[in-house]
Amino acid sequence: MRQFKVVVLGAGGVGKSALTVRFIQDVFLENYDPTIEEAYRRTITVEGETSSLEVLDTAGAEQFTSLNEVYIKAGKGFVLVFSLTQEASLKEVDHLRKQIYRIKGGESGSIPIVVVGTKLDLVNEREVPRNTIQALASRWGLPFYETSSKRNWHISDVFEDLVRQMRAR
Ligand code: GTP
Ligand code: MG
Repeated sequence: MRQFKVVVLGAGGVGKSALTVRFIQDVFLENYDPTIEEAYRRTITVEGETSSLEVLDTAGAEQFTSLNEVYIKAGKGFVLVFSLTQEASLKEVDHLRKQIYRIKGGESGSIPIVVVGTKLDLVNEREVPRNTIQALASRWGLPFYETSSKRNWHISDVFEDLVRQMRAR
């Protein structure tokens, strides 16, 4: 069975842990408990082929972002997370995307990445319109998903997309 290291990155409080734990354990993390670093493992079957994923849930908090370089070096695929309810968190995704290409030395398109906008269920708090992220993602050449960890919307799509990309590279 092939094994892949996936790193979940993004600003503080955007929902990285909720996304990871929904995928790994199928529960919703209601309470906010800032992460330092947490590693999980599960298998995933995509198109009849099972792979083992090691998912690293990282800290969004500023005092830990110096570790991102180490994580990026070790990772094969990346989930770049922002909150649809917090426009500023999209800037951090652009920053991380550039950092990944710089550290990995890859051309765009050569590194498995998925962009995720979380908290899709919070419709009244939404700040980032769909066409904004659609335009950005297409400029970046990256797939994106709008998710809700609370409602379990499109969570598995994120990891299945990433697995397809990681297998191909
Ligand atoms: P750091 O570990 O500090 O970087 O934060 P994080 O990105 O891991 O955020 P976390 O997953 O802990 O979520 C922060 C808060 O947002 C928690 O209270 C979650 O319950 C809430 N949250 C996360 N995802 C969703 C979602 O899809 N919908 C709703 N309504 N709330 C969410
Ligand atoms: Mg967290």
